[in-house]
Amino acid sequence: MGKTLILGATGNLGGLTAARLYRSAPQTLRAATSRDAGIRRLDRKFPGAEAVLCDWNDEASLIEAMRGVSKILVVTPDLVTDESVVTLNIIRAAQKTGAVELVVRLLGMPPGFTLEQADPAYVGARCGAGLHVVAKPLLDASGLPVCYVNVPAWLMFNLQSFVAADVKAHRRIAMPATTDCPRMWVSEGDVAEVFARILSGDAAEHAGQEYLLTSPDRHSYADLARVFTEVLGEPVAYADDDQPLRDAMGPAFDQLMTYLSHETGSYAAVRHVDTLTRMLGRPPETLHDYITARKELYS
Ligand SMILES: NC(=O)c1ccc[n+]([C@@H]2O[C@H](COP(=O)([O-])OP(=O)(O)OC[C@H]3O[C@@H](n4cnc5c(N)ncnc54)[C@H](OP(=O)(O)O)[C@@H]3O)[C@@H](O)[C@H]2O)c1
Repeated sequence: MGKTLILGATGNLGGLTAARLYRSAPQTLRAATSRDAGIRRLDRKFPGAEAVLCDWNDEASLIEAMRGVSKILVVTPDLVTDESVVTLNIIRAAQKTGAVELVVRLLGMPPGFTLEQADPAYVGARCGAGLHVVAKPLLDASGLPVCYVNVPAWLMFNLQSFVAADVKAHRRIAMPATTDCPRMWVSEGDVAEVFARILSGDAAEHAGQEYLLTSPDRHSYADLARVFTEVLGEPVAYADDDQPLRDAMGPAFDQLMTYLSHETGSYAAVRHVDTLTRMLGRPPETLHDYITARKELYS
């Protein structure tokens, strides 16, 4: 059996997935990072597994990282990735390697959304669907055995980035009202478990599939405040205030706001399908479960 290469193994989703694979089959894991500091971190986290240095802007380093690899997970970061460079490099390297049985790629876009339909500002913001709408047609045309895991929802780790500090300090969800809409929320743990199941399974079964991960409920910021109120046992209110998001995002604030101005509408028509329950054999983690399990972050 070939190795499983995790591109982005120091990241949120890549790291959680690598940890699951490490627990079940450490000898098959090849965890990649583009930074020397990342190698030290991966060596500490996954002793005995392989940690490799690989920059997806450099095709030669991808080819080297893909030697002996049969499965690959690709999770690209928001705000910075040029998918037209990164995805083409990954495709070319996988084609040259010739032994890749499965490329698993994260998406977060309304099913069927195309580059032609996307406002150039959406694409230019390099976030979420603005990234994935560029990557998907390139992968579709590559002839590689690709499996998409598509999450047109907010990942629950956004709570830590966007609202945790203000919930803790002021018992409020402070986010700009222009970014509010009834959103689906999916936990990063559930997404990583789906990735790990696919990567541990039969490549032929997953090649050509697109798994849509959604939640049965939608939450506006006011709904989210109600969940915090229930879990913490103290009133948490929604406030239309962009300062905490400005503080969290720094110079990338305007870029994120451009993305969100499109995302609030574009995910609205996405219908819930019960893929998560089917793949995990249990219901997905709810916001209530997730916040309860991390109560100390908000108290
Ligand atoms: N937040 C949400 O609500 C949400 C919802 C749906 C989908 N998504 C999607 O989730 C993705 C982000 O996931 P995440 O938060 O898990 O990502 P992340 O933590 O930002 O991780 C990104 C990874 O990319 C690696 N990387 C960066 N530059 C690289 C390079 N030049 N060569 C190779 N690797 C490089 C980083 O590793 P090193 O720096 O160590 O190299 C890091 O491990 C985005 O595509 C986003 O659109 C997000």
